Amino acid sequence: SAAEKDGHDWFMRKEIFEQPRAVADSLIGRRGVGGLLQLDEMRLADEEIRDLDKIIIIACGTSFYAGMVAKYAIEHWTRTPVEVELASEFRYRDPIVDHTTLVVAISQSGETADTLQAIRHAKSQRAKVLAICNTNGSSIPRESDAVIYTHAGPEIGVASTKGFLTQLVACYLLALYVAQVKGTRYGDEINEIMGQLEAMPGHVETVLEQAESVYELARAHVDARSVLFLGRHAGYPVALEGALKLKELAYLHAEGFAAGELKHGPIALVEDGLPVLCVVPPRGRDQLHGKMLSGIQEVRARGARTICLAEEGDEKIVPYADHLIRLPEVPVLLQPLVAIVPLQLFACELASALGHDVDQPRNLAKSVTVE
Ligand code: G6P
Repeated sequence: SAAEKDGHDWFMRKEIFEQPRAVADSLIGRRGVGGLLQLDEMRLADEEIRDLDKIIIIACGTSFYAGMVAKYAIEHWTRTPVEVELASEFRYRDPIVDHTTLVVAISQSGETADTLQAIRHAKSQRAKVLAICNTNGSSIPRESDAVIYTHAGPEIGVASTKGFLTQLVACYLLALYVAQVKGTRYGDEINEIMGQLEAMPGHVETVLEQAESVYELARAHVDARSVLFLGRHAGYPVALEGALKLKELAYLHAEGFAAGELKHGPIALVEDGLPVLCVVPPRGRDQLHGKMLSGIQEVRARGARTICLAEEGDEKIVPYADHLIRLPEVPVLLQPLVAIVPLQLFACELASALGHDVDQPRNLAKSVTVE
């Protein structure tokens, strides 16, 4: 009923709008005595964390893209090598895993069979396993050594939204925690980043205020046959997730690319009128920003129509954008938390305009309990 959906037409739309709260809830209680980051649900000794020489993140679907963002954050803050792998591929390639490896399983439902089998394999190789999960007491956290629960609340829409944002938050917290224990970042810096994270619910809210103009843009694309998404750095997984949302909900061919990789193949796809959604990195990262702009120029020169997501105050982007969606000014590593939101709104509205069942897309299940 509409009441269950808070007056929204779809659970997914309701869940998109719940994201500021979900992000805030996932941050509650993380600052302990003396401002030191605390993760109650972690059951790994400091000793074990200090001894880690590798982290492998395993997940499926949207959770996998959260893992890709995590790699950027964990490696940058902790200087610990991170691999991200699809859970369904992990154990079948005989991965190199031992007691100095931390395997992080990201799963909203905690019941995904591919992920569960992957952690069983990791444990059989004596790896430590940490779960990032939204479902209390589900199989994956039960079989893990440690868990960080996300606090998204129940997610009903099959396509994950608030689950994804809270997974990102948990990944940032894990990264900061490891940095704190390993001493790769000082307390001041960790505090500063925590402050930036605590400002994110407000920033997500700001993005949601633009929903109407994103919807309008989405409705203008009901005849699109194919849509591309470009990103760099932490914006690359955002591009992949934005494309996944369109496939899942609008049954539309959509692909995400690392913008730098365009020239190595995908640019051949660009033809007149092709919509290309571009996640533009913050200007603070000069090189990234400039390179992204030249990538956008390349697709535009070949007739693409660009929809650019760029931070407030970025004037350089203006001549490159057929449509511009503004994002709040945030650090590049945290940008996925705001950049994915317009892409969720876009997919939700486009699917809705096409008459599809947004909450129960064809052929998909909320949790896939078969390998
Ligand atoms: C299914 C869902 C996806 C989800 C994936 C992983 O395929 O349809 O939305 O991202 O499973 O689910 P998990 O619960 O492990 O995060």
